Amino acid sequence: MEGSTTVWSLLAALLVMAAVQSVRASQRDRVLSLVDETYDVNEWPNFKERKPTVINVQMYFNSFGSLNAGNMDYTLDMFLRQRWRDPRMTYTEGLSSYTIMDAQLQKRIWKPDTYFENVKSAQVHGVTMPNLLLRVTKTGDVLYSMRVTLTLSCNLELELYPFDAQLCYVRVSSYANTDDVIQYHWGAESIVIEDGIEISEFDLLANDTYSHKNIFATGNFSGLTASFSLRRQNGYHILQTYIPTILIVSISWVSFWLDPNAVPGRVSLGVTTLLTLTTLASGIRQSLPPVSYVKAIDVWIGVCMIMVFGALLEFTLVNWMANKKMMNSTLPEKITLPRCLAGYPEIIEAPEVGAPKKEGYGLTYIFYARALDRLSRILFPGGFFVFNLIYWPYYIILQRAIA
Ligand SMILES: *[C@@H]1O[C@H](CO)[C@@H](O)[C@H](O)[C@H]1NC(C)=O
Repeated sequence: MEGSTTVWSLLAALLVMAAVQSVRASQRDRVLSLVDETYDVNEWPNFKERKPTVINVQMYFNSFGSLNAGNMDYTLDMFLRQRWRDPRMTYTEGLSSYTIMDAQLQKRIWKPDTYFENVKSAQVHGVTMPNLLLRVTKTGDVLYSMRVTLTLSCNLELELYPFDAQLCYVRVSSYANTDDVIQYHWGAESIVIEDGIEISEFDLLANDTYSHKNIFATGNFSGLTASFSLRRQNGYHILQTYIPTILIVSISWVSFWLDPNAVPGRVSLGVTTLLTLTTLASGIRQSLPPVSYVKAIDVWIGVCMIMVFGALLEFTLVNWMANKKMMNSTLPEKITLPRCLAGYPEIIEAPEVGAPKKEGYGLTYIFYARALDRLSRILFPGGFFVFNLIYWPYYIILQRAIA
């Protein structure tokens, strides 16, 4: 009894395996019969009617790399889904749709020669199998989907950097088939961007899709464009560039509180701040292409340089004045200075008046030097503050205006 049960179950298993084999065989046969000798892969689906084949395109973005200002490009990872109807591939029996996995078979089916117009480099993933999907339905509708990682060029306009906003494109077209063979249309849900996508340093404000036509010497080609409107986030640059430079400029003002004759202190303060600023500026330059126009960051760094350099020059003048002896002929009766600049006492009697007039008696312009220092304590921070009042609203409003 025991033995016969085993035999029966073995037989049943064999039958199931045979049935599966026959289904598999017929599935393959059916696909093969779709692309038999009468199917010419060089003829587009609507070749008989001499009508263009409409390719419906959908793009599903699953990651969005950062914009690279130095190379003027950005990276995208997406599923490119193309749908078209091939009347030669309709069938009646069997499954409602076939997924064609066999690479040899895939080659025998007509596919549009879509390319990315602004691509710099592209990759179709091959792990663990080529990331391709080719599916045919009973009505002859073909879905051709692939996962591609693209580096696309994007012309960056950096006049407002780092308060800029950019418009980047993905453009597809047919390389060899003119618009009387292939016409691209955006499908329903033309662009899908995966939820929670983060683009480092940028906010994705909007996207748009439209079709375009390339009129070349080789013919007119139908194409599609997807555009992304991106706005740079300012947080990173404020932390990494603006706050450090503000601190450096503020430190250069310390010099105005030091004695006009404190040469080592004031020189080293001025030179150190100038050098630090230069180092910071060269760091910023490294990540940017050498464009010839002035960027918002150049305006900022330039003004900071002028401020720091000005503080150093002011010291030169102050030190010179502090040591320059007054000529007897120009020796004033009284050195009168505005109350706010004179310090205490606000009016200084020139003590040498009346004393024997001797060249280089000893009175220097130090009162004027001190007054200049006091004036600088107001003028330098005040000037920088006014510059800030103009700089920030101007660029932030411009950035909001263009994006
Ligand atoms: C291409 O398009 C232009 C403008 O629409 C048209 O004048 C021209 O005849 C077209 N060329 C071909 C080869 O279809």
